[in-house]
Amino acid sequence: MSALFQPFSLKDITLRNRIAVPPMCQYSATDGVINDWHVANYTGQARGGAGLVIVEATAVAPEGRITPACAGLWTDAQAEAFIPVVRGIKAHGAVPGIQIAHAGRKASANRPWEGDDHIPNDAANGWQTIAPSAIPFGAHLPKVPEAMTLQDIERVKADFVAAARRALAVGFEWLELHFAHGYLAQSFFSPHANQRTDAYGGNADNRGRFLRETLAAVREVWPEHLPLTIRFGVIEFDGNDEQTMSDAIDLTRQFKAGGMDMMSVSIGFNTPTAKIPWAPAFMGPIAKRVRDEAGVPVSSAWGFGEPHIAEKAVQDGQLDLVMVGKAHLANPHWAYHAARELKVERPSWVMPAPYAHWLERY
Ligand SMILES: Cc1cc2nc3c(=O)[nH]c(=O)nc-3n(C[C@H](O)[C@H](O)[C@H](O)COP(=O)(O)O)c2cc1C
Repeated sequence: MSALFQPFSLKDITLRNRIAVPPMCQYSATDGVINDWHVANYTGQARGGAGLVIVEATAVAPEGRITPACAGLWTDAQAEAFIPVVRGIKAHGAVPGIQIAHAGRKASANRPWEGDDHIPNDAANGWQTIAPSAIPFGAHLPKVPEAMTLQDIERVKADFVAAARRALAVGFEWLELHFAHGYLAQSFFSPHANQRTDAYGGNADNRGRFLRETLAAVREVWPEHLPLTIRFGVIEFDGNDEQTMSDAIDLTRQFKAGGMDMMSVSIGFNTPTAKIPWAPAFMGPIAKRVRDEAGVPVSSAWGFGEPHIAEKAVQDGQLDLVMVGKAHLANPHWAYHAARELKVERPSWVMPAPYAHWLERY
């Protein structure tokens, strides 16, 4: 029996299987407002059979967008544009999730297919970035961010809260805080980016403060019965990995105590000099360590897009949920094909009846 195709319950939500589409930016919004492209994209992924579809990193404030074309949730009009996405995902049997984010010093960049590099502040579509300290990421993202004042910190926490309220109001049932990938929250945790000398910098406890406080503030407005998850980079691959992981696992325990329901275990991406050992499923053992040592359910991504690899990650107790990203871009019906390959009984019924009924016959 396939482990990947067993249901998964978290709080009051039950996913039809262990397959999740992770957040993937479409860089196709206008002033943070999404459009027909996003509706088709997310609806298609839900139709293909995944249990959970998490909408892309959605900025909580204008300066928190990665690119000028990123989605936003800082206005009600932006929120309303998500209503057909939520409806479409649910109509196809998946649970609608959204990741809310602030890009910090990595914001104000061109789209990946238009250079991926920083847009200068004096260009019409560029803006001043903010971060824990005035330290640039480097490489293709050389802009020096402004170090955040305590007022800035309070404002961004309030922006996360307002975005969470809007996500709830339009029907999302699963909320992910983007504390990964070198964006704002992750950069507070990282000595590569955070050299503050106040209560938000220095030792690991201080470097975790912005993240804990943001979680606590969001938890107050996100209902107890719905999952609140965090995507967090627990490892940097910069030669200091044991220290980073042990600090990250400590913080994960605190997230758990603060109301986090599950962690999407990921990579820090705080420095362009990291040596990441890319290979299929290489994050599996790292996720399992977080799962075992912090006692939280985990998911992870990065190279689980082959059905037998995804199946094994669940069977081996590495992951509770498997994030399958680019393979869903290539084939939104990935779950159906995985069900066939894994010889699930009646694989067609991974998909809705108007497809399943016919596909079962051939
Ligand atoms: C087009 C694209 C956009 C992405 N956008 C996000 C994002 O918004 N938030 C995030 O946490 N990760 C983002 N990622 C990373 C994915 O969620 C995922 O971790 C990555 O694709 C690795 O999984 P895979 O090997 O299954 O593709 C993005 C990846 C891609 C390819």
